[in-house]
Amino acid sequence: MSDLDSIVGQAREQFAAIGDAAQLEEAKARFLGKSGQVTELLKGLAKLPVEERKARGEAINRVKNAIEAALADRREALADARMQQKLAAEALDVTLPGRSAQRGGLHPVMRTQRRVEQIFRSIGFDIAEGPEIETDWFNFTALNSPENHPARSMQDTFYVDARDSAGKQLLLRTHTSPMQVRYASLHAAKHRGHETMAPIKVIAPGRTYRVDSDATHSPMFHQVEGLWIDEDISFADLKGVFLNFMRAFFEDDNIVARFRPSYFPFTEPSAEIDIAFSSGPMKGRWLEVSGSGQVHPNVVRNFGLDPERHIGFAFGSGLERLTMLRYGIGDLRLFYEGDLRFLRQFN
Ligand code: PHE
Repeated sequence: MSDLDSIVGQAREQFAAIGDAAQLEEAKARFLGKSGQVTELLKGLAKLPVEERKARGEAINRVKNAIEAALADRREALADARMQQKLAAEALDVTLPGRSAQRGGLHPVMRTQRRVEQIFRSIGFDIAEGPEIETDWFNFTALNSPENHPARSMQDTFYVDARDSAGKQLLLRTHTSPMQVRYASLHAAKHRGHETMAPIKVIAPGRTYRVDSDATHSPMFHQVEGLWIDEDISFADLKGVFLNFMRAFFEDDNIVARFRPSYFPFTEPSAEIDIAFSSGPMKGRWLEVSGSGQVHPNVVRNFGLDPERHIGFAFGSGLERLTMLRYGIGDLRLFYEGDLRFLRQFN
């Protein structure tokens, strides 16, 4: 029977040398396939004398079983090895610190804007947004600054290469004041024909543009416009609203305000509003924070209202300025350099 033993030995040896499943199946065929060695041996049984057949047959079957067992072992070993390889390739180091998503944050000027909106919403003001590309009418003419008015040269304007339906060149709004006219005239139109009009109470924050650039001026900056028009709104209301705004904004009930006579074509009388802190590093210094005034009768007319009946105030404040005062920032350019070391401090 040594021929049979040697077949098992050969099979084991060949199987052991094989590293992949497909080759293993080929090797199996050499022994157990249609013309494999074991199959040939079984075919040979027919030629044996009957009395030898049984013993020889049993011996061949043992060989067949032994080869099948060796095959199964090798298959399992290869499958194990493949699994180990896969695990190693896909290994996760669960002890590594996580890589969390980077969290964005609000720009400090935007934080100021939200804060201002929150304060004014709490006293019943609407919040309005308007276009940054404006017409000559809304930015100047409707605001009582006609074509040759000297006030137009106070603001160096970015003009756009396009014209409005009146043939006037479009421009980047130089202030948020055009929103007074846009908002109030819509509001007035809605109430036309009614006995009374609900008061106009609105703030309009947003981007504004002027040809100007230094430590305290940026060609793009932010303002917030305020407007309150009703039948009996006076300078006293402006003073009360604005002082409360400042006290809420800076969380300081000891802030004082003063009104300094000034000039704007769209308000009469006009005033610059200065505030002073009574403690902290800015203590006792008057700081200009807003232009303001009683809305000019011509402008009230451009709202579509009767200046004999409707009266009120407007103000316009720089949001960068408020942000710089609140956080003690000395250079406005820091806002627009995009340096994360600066910006992260506010989040
Ligand atoms: N629009 C003015 C400016 O940009 C500010 C202002 C607004 C003044 C409203 C009076 C009333 O300087």
